Amino acid sequence: MKSSSPSLGAAIRDWWSDSREHRSVLATSYFFVTEVLGFLRDSTPARERQRYGDMDYDWEHGVNTMSAAVGWRGRLLGVFHSPYQPTEPELFREMMDALNADYSQFTFIDLGSGKGRTLLMASEYPFRRIVGVELLPDLNSLAQKNISTFKSDAQRCFALESICLDAREYEFPDEPLLVYLFNPLLESGLEQVVENLELSLRKCPREALVLYLNPLLESVIAASPLFKKTAGTHQFSLYSAVP
Ligand SMILES: C[S@@+](CC[C@H](N)C(=O)[O-])C[C@H]1O[C@@H](n2cnc3c(N)ncnc32)[C@H](O)[C@@H]1O
Repeated sequence: MKSSSPSLGAAIRDWWSDSREHRSVLATSYFFVTEVLGFLRDSTPARERQRYGDMDYDWEHGVNTMSAAVGWRGRLLGVFHSPYQPTEPELFREMMDALNADYSQFTFIDLGSGKGRTLLMASEYPFRRIVGVELLPDLNSLAQKNISTFKSDAQRCFALESICLDAREYEFPDEPLLVYLFNPLLESGLEQVVENLELSLRKCPREALVLYLNPLLESVIAASPLFKKTAGTHQFSLYSAVP
């Protein structure tokens, strides 16, 4: 299992080739500079203070899942992968209500789980188990710490784990799945994950749901012959595997 931090060079190379699939060299260079300037703007003390704005969940549960307090290297890697930003608790509850499923049948898998807030929030539902997959070792270590310090009278699932791995390399378990995505991947990465999921479902047919928050690359899932959109709002989409 991968546990060393990915290199910045590799992250930039991946980002560049993903961008070049859709844009010219000039447009890609322009976006590159824009991303770096955005990172520098985000590094000012005022912006850092802003990121402490979502501390309520952490105070209540004795954890550190806020988007602040991520080191500069983690944030810079985030520019070229996907920056860590936790799901809002209210929105998470809304998505869980929309599932309209027997939670206990499903293994909840968050691809790109960061500091693990969704894993903790999911544990207040009776999932059979909960798995987080996170690329950056520092965020994954924090997620593991959060799992051990989490306090909630409403906790219903206690089989939680966070693993450090590139989601593109994750092998799905042969169990009914609820795959959660909050924009962890570039387009080519998401295509790879959907392909892995299709292979896994063909090998071992079973129920599978994909819950996608802020679905910027929804067309990748919509293009899969195995999935049909079954619910959604302007903030999220739910896809179900066609039996
Ligand atoms: C927008 S955050 C979502 C965090 C969490 N899922 C949540 O909703 O609270 C995206 C996360 O994906 C992670 N990530 C980016 N590329 C990844 C990859 N290839 N494999 C696994 N995680 C990745 C980032 O480090 C970041 O923590």
